[in-house]
Amino acid sequence: MGSGKSSVARVVARRSGLPLFDLDQAIEQHAGVTVATLFAERGEPAFRELERDTLRELLGANPRGVFALGGGTVTDRTLRRELLGAGTLITLRAPVAELARRVGGGEGRPLLAGQDVAARLVALLEARAEAYAECQAVIDTSAADVEGIASAVLAAARDVAVVVPLGVRSYRVEIGAGVRARLATRVSEAAGSPSVVLVSDENVAPLWGEPLAAQLEAAGKRVTRVILPAGEAHKTLASVERIWDAALSGGADRGSVVVGVGGGVVGDLAGFAASALLRGVAVGQVPTSLLAMVDSAIGGKTGFDTRHGKNLVGAFHQPRFVLCDPELLATLPDVERTAGLAEVVKSAWIEGEAAVAGLERDQAALRAGEPAATLRAIRMSAALKTRIVTEDERESGARALLNLGHTVGHAIEAAEGYAGLRHGQAVALGMVAAFRLAAQVGRLGADQVERLCALLTALGLPTDVGRYLEPRVLSFIGSDKKRRSDQVTFVLPGKPGDVRLQPFGLSQLEGLLTRT
Ligand SMILES: NC(=O)c1ccc[n+]([C@@H]2O[C@H](COP(=O)([O-])OP(=O)(O)OC[C@H]3O[C@@H](n4cnc5c(N)ncnc54)[C@H](O)[C@@H]3O)[C@@H](O)[C@H]2O)c1
Repeated sequence: MGSGKSSVARVVARRSGLPLFDLDQAIEQHAGVTVATLFAERGEPAFRELERDTLRELLGANPRGVFALGGGTVTDRTLRRELLGAGTLITLRAPVAELARRVGGGEGRPLLAGQDVAARLVALLEARAEAYAECQAVIDTSAADVEGIASAVLAAARDVAVVVPLGVRSYRVEIGAGVRARLATRVSEAAGSPSVVLVSDENVAPLWGEPLAAQLEAAGKRVTRVILPAGEAHKTLASVERIWDAALSGGADRGSVVVGVGGGVVGDLAGFAASALLRGVAVGQVPTSLLAMVDSAIGGKTGFDTRHGKNLVGAFHQPRFVLCDPELLATLPDVERTAGLAEVVKSAWIEGEAAVAGLERDQAALRAGEPAATLRAIRMSAALKTRIVTEDERESGARALLNLGHTVGHAIEAAEGYAGLRHGQAVALGMVAAFRLAAQVGRLGADQVERLCALLTALGLPTDVGRYLEPRVLSFIGSDKKRRSDQVTFVLPGKPGDVRLQPFGLSQLEGLLTRT
């Protein structure tokens, strides 16, 4: 209330040429009485129901438009998530004193009627903090320059940002050429001090880490650079200790931000180091490999490998921001880009038929690394990952679906000492094994196995899993995290969009895999 949504929405509609819908007005037209009367006569729950129905109807009939919503509309979690998926959801914000000045005595505003306006506003803002944080952009309106605010709204609407809506821990995955230029701003928003720990590896540091460190320094940050040896073989506790040592020697404090600039290895290590440094500091991710952009930088899983297997020690620690800038892929070796495409195929199969068909259409362009097709693949995968992480932040259910191909993939990687295949190549092989197994147990037809193999081959990924499925590799399945006692929860694919979890006895699974 008083944030300026009606006046800003009017200007946004005029400047964008889109139709304007004011939800309160639509409700009043619908009901034939004022919102205040509706509140008084039917009470808040009945009003909210009417509000939900009216908005869904409006959106159904007008998928494009500018919608000015009441502040209470987004308190309904389901509706809010629908809105996040349907368009750009923006929170307008102003200090309480300014809001109180704008709403005056609160006339015509049932939630303020007869109360101490400022105190009531504070209480409402507190109660709705989680809801208001789950949006594509928060824009401050205290300057009251409506044209300037409308410009910020229009810029946010043009931006591609996937929101991971986790209440006050919500964050945005910003996707687009050049978004790395926002690093200093995002760090300032996340930081409680000027100290930044920028973690990178030997390959990425000179290409991208250093220019980003320079950007941060130009913005007045004190940057501690940590340059790790590259590759999965260095995803170890020793690397985590190097980050901690450098950070503490560099004077890190509770307000520091750790920034991971690199592939999945750097991201997982930087995230884990941040989760425990001084009992937890903020982390931001600037993924530089395709795999990290489509998968590992989103979702807050962090950790490192031990001699017992991959990622067996780690923590959930959500980033404060993720900047996915496909321009950074220009220097990524072809084999790494191709490996990242395996996770894209995995995401598409979990997402559904349209996503798989889209990849099949784009396969030649993706193989060649064309920017438009690559951007489409990143958006599809990031949106899927976000949706699943939102449903299941700590991997107790749906999130485990993202491990499609990973049970066997991880076992192959572990047996090879993390030195043979790229992670993505191992995942491609693991998917083929999972698909063949699914065909054996009647979950899908041989045509779908062939379809997967054709797509993987067109993207330059391996499919010859048979030669890897020897007893030594299978023994590593027993140490997979998805295992409970002698049961393994296996991600069993069906048709696109129909992937599910199924428990198998360890020996049964090994038997089935050997026959694939
Ligand atoms: N946390 C998660 O949810 C999650 C999800 C999937 C995978 N992962 C992890 O991600 C890791 C694999 O990630 P990855 O494939 O990015 O490996 P990686 O980090 O080892 O990067 C691959 C190689 O590419 C180089 N590189 C990266 N970006 C570059 C660039 N722009 N230009 C030039 N070189 C560049 C790196 O130095 C490295 O040599 C695995 O450890 C896996 O377990 C984590």
